[in-house]
Parts: sequence; C-alpha cells; structure tokens
Amino acid sequence: MTEYGSINVRNDEVSAEESRFEASLRPTRIAEYIGQQKVKDNLRVFMQAALRRREALDHILLTGPPGVGKTTLSNIVANEMGASLKSTAGPIIEKAGDLAAILTNLDEGDVLFIDEIHRLSPAIEEILYPAMEDYNLDIMIGQGAAARSIKLDLPKFTLIGATTRPGMITAPLRGRFGIIFHLDFYNIPDLKTICDRSAKILDVEVDAEGSHEIARRGRGTPRIVNRLLRRVRDFAEVDHEGRIDGAVAANSLDKMEVDSYGLDERDAKLLRTIIEKYDGGPVGLSTLSAAIHEEKDSIEEIIEPYLLQIGFLDRTPRGRVATRIAFEHFGIYPKMSAADQPLFD
Ligand code: ADE
Repeated sequence: MTEYGSINVRNDEVSAEESRFEASLRPTRIAEYIGQQKVKDNLRVFMQAALRRREALDHILLTGPPGVGKTTLSNIVANEMGASLKSTAGPIIEKAGDLAAILTNLDEGDVLFIDEIHRLSPAIEEILYPAMEDYNLDIMIGQGAAARSIKLDLPKFTLIGATTRPGMITAPLRGRFGIIFHLDFYNIPDLKTICDRSAKILDVEVDAEGSHEIARRGRGTPRIVNRLLRRVRDFAEVDHEGRIDGAVAANSLDKMEVDSYGLDERDAKLLRTIIEKYDGGPVGLSTLSAAIHEEKDSIEEIIEPYLLQIGFLDRTPRGRVATRIAFEHFGIYPKMSAADQPLFD
C-alpha cells in the first residue's frame, strides 16, 4: 500500500474498513446515482421492460477503471429489480464445483455479480456459457470410469460481470452479454455533487469551494473523492471546527501530497521516469514496468487510464510518451533536439 503521510490514495486496494465506509455512502436507487447519464437512461429502460414482462433482466457487462461505481450499479440493479445480489470475483472461482455451488444457490431473478470477470479460467467460462444462455448447469462429477455428466436446470438469473480490462474478455463470453456498458471517469461537476451528497450523509459541513477542490483532485473517481473527503474531514475537525471550505480542502490535500490533478505517487513516478530517464519517451511497457517496479497489468489497468484521459500520456506504436502538459505539470521543459537549438556564434 502506498502511503502519503496518513493517506492511502491507491485505487486498487480497499481495506475492510474502507469498504464498510464506501458501502455507507453507496446509493441504493438509480435516481440517487450521479453521472453516467447515458448508462442510467438505457438501464432504466431495460429494467422497466424486464419488470413489465416479468422476466429476468438480460446479462450485463460493466467495464471501466477501478472505483467508478461498477459494484454500486450492480447493487442498484438488484434493488430496482426487487432481487437479491450475490457477489463473487473471477479469481475466487477456482474449481468447477465453486461455480456450481454459487449457481445452484441462486433464486429466480437473482443478480449474480462477478467482479474481475476477465480473470475466470477457461474451464470455468465453459460452465458459464450454458448457464447464461439457457440457465443450464452442465458439469462432470467424479473421475475416470466413474465420471458422469450431470445436467441441472437453474433459476432465471441476471449475471453482471465487471472488468477493468474489457480487452481481456474472450469473444464467446462477451457475446453472451445482452447489455454492455462502459463507465468512464467522472467530470468535476458530477464528482462535486457526489462529494456534497457524501458530506450530507456523513454530516460534514462543506461549502461549494471545498467540495469543488476535493472533486478536482479526485482523479475522476467517486471512490477517491469519498476517501479524500474523509481525510479532509479529519483536518477540518482538528483545526477548523469541522468546517471544510476551499482553503481547508486545498491545504489538507497539499499536506497529504495529493496534487492539483489528484495524481498520486505512482502516477508521478511513471511520468517522471518517462520524462527524466527516457527523455519523454517513447518507452515500451516492459521497460517501464521494470524501471518503476510495477506490474504491467497495474500500469495498464490502474495508472495509465487516468493519465491518458487527462492528456498527460500518449500510447504510440513505439511506446508510451509523456505529453507537453505532463512536462509542464512537473516544471520540466523538454530538451530541444540539436536541430531546434538556436545557433550562437
Ligand atoms: N458512489 C459511487 N459512485 C457513485 C455515483 N455515481 N453516484 C453517487 N454515489 C456514488
């Protein structure tokens, strides 16, 4: 875990305490869910249509970076459909029997949420296909001469798969989702609304400048906004009678080394390495991974998406390149090539 003073600003690790905190702020109805307008508009229609026809909602694939509300939206779908939600994750389902146990425990209309669905093994995916398509469970039990295939009817359920890596979903799995939604980073006004809503639930006093500052440094991500709000609240309670205004938010976030774009230590390390060690790039993913001691997957899944979104990074066929605004953000100015340098006599 990367610590800044007292704050963990990483977006891929969520402690048990934090997930309880997140859950307390999570909207339960679609009307309370802020942002992602197109997704909400379409989802409302699909849910209403399924309810009217008294059918299970079609299977949904949710893609998008960590912390943008994929789990939240799955909870909302279950609530709105009057169903219960059963949650698991790709890496947890190791054996055919694990998935069989989950599927045979479902009730009619239930929502089954599988996080990190791109991490399912091929053998497990095979079992999921007939379950998704025809609500059939088709598994082998026993071994050798005693091996038998058994078939069971499953209740009609809705699978919601979530992934940060849509490119890693196999074509046959992707093809079995009737609905595919991409959740993107949030704009600052939507993050501000999320911050104001969370502050109200937590009974924290925050003015418009305060929530704007937290939103601006929230890395486009509701989970990070809520995390920053919680930490800024600590500063406000200790030094400012609990009130958060623009200056309190800015000073607290500066002290926690969350910069004006919300970039954290890993973002800065990646960009500074490209800039300082590789003259701004291009640099290949494997080289970069070795240079900053980060897994390639973490670079692609967690660090890069936001840097690409804010235009600090470019992916080119020859590798990663830091952009001019990234140089400027770190107060570094690109070296001019020899041909561009002024001639002195
Ligand atoms: N928490 C996480 N995502 C949210 C959203 N889109 N609206 C409100 N609260 C959230």
